[in-house]
Amino acid sequence: METRRIRNFSIIAHVDHGKSTLADRLLEVTHTVEDRKMRQQLLDNLELERERGITIKLVPVRMNYRSREGVDYVLNLIDTPGHVDFSYEVSRSLAASDGAVLVVDAAQGVEAQTVANAYLAVDQGLAIIPVINKIDLPSAQPDVVRGEIEEVVGIDASEAILASAKEGKGIGEILEAIVSLVPAPSGRRESPLQALIFDSVYDNYKGVICYVRVFNGVVRTGQAVTFMATGLNYQIEEIGVFRPQMEPVEELGAGEVGYVVANIKSLTEAHVGDTVTDSRAPAQSPLPGYRKIKPVVFCGFYPIEREDYPQLREALEKLQLNDSSLFFEPETSTALGFGFRCGFLGLLHMDIAKERLQREFDVELVATAPNVVYHILRTDGEIQEIHNPADLPEISRVEEIREPLIRITTFVPTDYVGKTMQLCQDRRGAFVSMDYITPERVRLVYDLPLAEFIIDFHDRLKSVTRGYASLDYEQRGFQAADLVKVDVLLNEEPVDAFSFICHRDASYHRGQTVVRKLKELIPRQLFEIPIQAAVGKRVIVRQNVKPLRKDVLAKCYGGDITRKRKLLEKQKEGKKRMKQIGRVSVPQEAFLAFLDVS
Ligand code: GTP
Repeated sequence: METRRIRNFSIIAHVDHGKSTLADRLLEVTHTVEDRKMRQQLLDNLELERERGITIKLVPVRMNYRSREGVDYVLNLIDTPGHVDFSYEVSRSLAASDGAVLVVDAAQGVEAQTVANAYLAVDQGLAIIPVINKIDLPSAQPDVVRGEIEEVVGIDASEAILASAKEGKGIGEILEAIVSLVPAPSGRRESPLQALIFDSVYDNYKGVICYVRVFNGVVRTGQAVTFMATGLNYQIEEIGVFRPQMEPVEELGAGEVGYVVANIKSLTEAHVGDTVTDSRAPAQSPLPGYRKIKPVVFCGFYPIEREDYPQLREALEKLQLNDSSLFFEPETSTALGFGFRCGFLGLLHMDIAKERLQREFDVELVATAPNVVYHILRTDGEIQEIHNPADLPEISRVEEIREPLIRITTFVPTDYVGKTMQLCQDRRGAFVSMDYITPERVRLVYDLPLAEFIIDFHDRLKSVTRGYASLDYEQRGFQAADLVKVDVLLNEEPVDAFSFICHRDASYHRGQTVVRKLKELIPRQLFEIPIQAAVGKRVIVRQNVKPLRKDVLAKCYGGDITRKRKLLEKQKEGKKRMKQIGRVSVPQEAFLAFLDVS
């Protein structure tokens, strides 16, 4: 394929502004997918994405397009997710693209992630094509939105295309704009091979499949290649393109996007961001890889059945291959046994990872309450990073606890500014700035401890603004705070999986809420179970779960043996879904009791 006839682009947008619908229309108009095979949101192929209506994984697809001037082009579209937790996926798609279609909802206007994603594209030097979508809506205000794009995003929107992805309006103009405004890839076929791995998936039959964008040179079947970061050598077995299903081809040249299969056995060998080069005529240097992204939210994943530990490890390894921002390391909990401490970019990311493990890999697991990473300045002057509150050193050895901060940007209708500010202040937020985007909408910026954010900030924000606020955030380093570790004791024994770190002022309130919640969730058992919250040696809250067994059988008056058996069976079954901690059976929900502490 001639490089000058290739266009590589992404579609970026705030959640729900119509990116996936637009992608569907592009596939239809270019006849990439036969009409009878077309179903809604074709690119959202994870079951979970369809259910939740959000895009999680990026999916590349190749289209053929004959322009109005009669020239044939190959367009590679890389769809991207819109949610803030997945911005890592967005930056990876953009690194494989030369242009971006920026979709903005004509009724909603510019939202927090419109700006964040547009900035990512500007930073990468991509050509941006603004599209104002949903002009079919009665509430559409394309002129206002055009003004917002210019004012807030800071790009020229005078030529913004007016479209309705739903009704198929403006699709032709978008395709024409892509071929005329997105530059052709700049690489050369004659240069040594440099192909960027921008994603990888595990396939049961083919093994590891790497998604690549070739920047220079040509990659062919049978070729001996080297992965530059690992130094490992392979022979290419299959090369192909996405239409959107995988279709083998003979070669991929400079500028093309596709996949390679190379008998990569170990799941850890294919690093996203690595450069593939020719073993015999290697490139001098690798392509600039990806910024390593550090997870900020952690939780423990434990198999419900102890024997399932190896299965959970394998599932995590496979998931990580498909989700390189996922982090995990083995950990042992006195309460829960062997498991893994896993790191995520945010709560939604954690939730999705957990569900994917359960659905795609069929492992039953318990997830402990999420916490953020902490930096501990010890009295010996060392800084220790901890991923688990249980790892906090003896308090006498701790000089200072530092927690991660984030800067949040919200776009809020003026009517809700007061409530939003109140919410931020309640969450230990520090005001940064406020400005009017239009007379009706305000951009509000706060610095907030991440720990306060992960609990349920987004939900609270939605509820105080009736869903009208949009949100984006970025990490802002670490800051010392007056934090304490609260231990939770079940039956007088501290349960490491339940301990949490919070601000001293909030420790009583949160301890009380957690204990109350646990009391509700832990079923009565054969003996009385005290539940306590303590800071250091000092117990701050205590409640008891009363014993039960007497009650279960008491109702049977010793007469009806079948009924008695049934009751005991029922009790046993209930136990199966529980995690045994010491003598106490604890239901799974209890581990998430901590999310509800406001
Ligand atoms: P994520 O995948 O979650 O990032 O969202 P998205 O940006 O891909 O949005 P999606 O395509 O899923 O569209 C969101 C909603 O807007 C869906 O209910 C679509 O049917 C609707 N929608 C998309 N385009 C249009 C349009 O042009 N007009 C109208 N009226 N609705 C549209």
